[in-house]
Amino acid sequence: MILAQISDLHIAEPGQLVCGRVDTRAFLERCVARIRALPTRPDAVVITGDLVDRGTVREYEALHELLAPLTMPVYPLLGNHDDRAAFRQVFGGAPYLRHTREHVQYAFNVGELRVIALDTHDPGQPGGRLCADRLAWLSGELDAVRRQPVVIAMHHPPFATGIPFMDASGLAPDDAAELAAILSEHGNVERILCGHLHRAIQAWFAGTIAMTAPSCAHQVALGLEPDALSGFNFEPPGFLQHLWVDQMLVSHHTLIDPFPGPFSFSG
Ligand SMILES: [Fe+2]
Ligand SMILES: [Fe+2]
Repeated sequence: MILAQISDLHIAEPGQLVCGRVDTRAFLERCVARIRALPTRPDAVVITGDLVDRGTVREYEALHELLAPLTMPVYPLLGNHDDRAAFRQVFGGAPYLRHTREHVQYAFNVGELRVIALDTHDPGQPGGRLCADRLAWLSGELDAVRRQPVVIAMHHPPFATGIPFMDASGLAPDDAAELAAILSEHGNVERILCGHLHRAIQAWFAGTIAMTAPSCAHQVALGLEPDALSGFNFEPPGFLQHLWVDQMLVSHHTLIDPFPGPFSFSG
């Protein structure tokens, strides 16, 4: 079983560049081609938010077209750059949204895993929230699958990363504490898969491993100093592949663009 995770696509309308210089549509095209060319086809793809850049219907239409070549199920969730109404206008007919109400939250099976997608979107704010409603829904979903390994997918990571300008727009600390309290009652959460950081980062959180995926487009600059300049760069873009191996989830960072090799160890 392979669950691919792509993140922070920030798709712009045709003819537009993100931040004046990032052709995010071209980046996603390369990412989709890379996934299609993988020797072992992922069973599903989860997209951990910031699907588009400004939240317009035209952006979601462009995203829909760019994702069309993927033949496995694709499960998008929302980030701070998204817009619930515009997203639903384009993706609203998808079966995974059938039982959703205000929040874009749903659960699905992929191989042995139960994936629970959470909505941390807080309209107009860069940071994320998990209100009582969303947390109660999560609690119910977790109670229903106590014997199945679970992955929680959400845009904002529940931990501080040490990158000050990104931590200023993280998940609200009170909501992260509520999430931790719920997780402490469930020992079957294998991972919390997040986006938002545009970097691959891991941390222990409430008895499980929380990690963020790189963006398949631009990356956030690794600025750890308090006065570090906020910005992005063109470090090689990537995505994650989560494999179920020997009753454990194993996560591999995968680069999108070509590089030399493989070469034989025997020369
Ligand atoms: Fe993002
Ligand atoms: Fe974000």
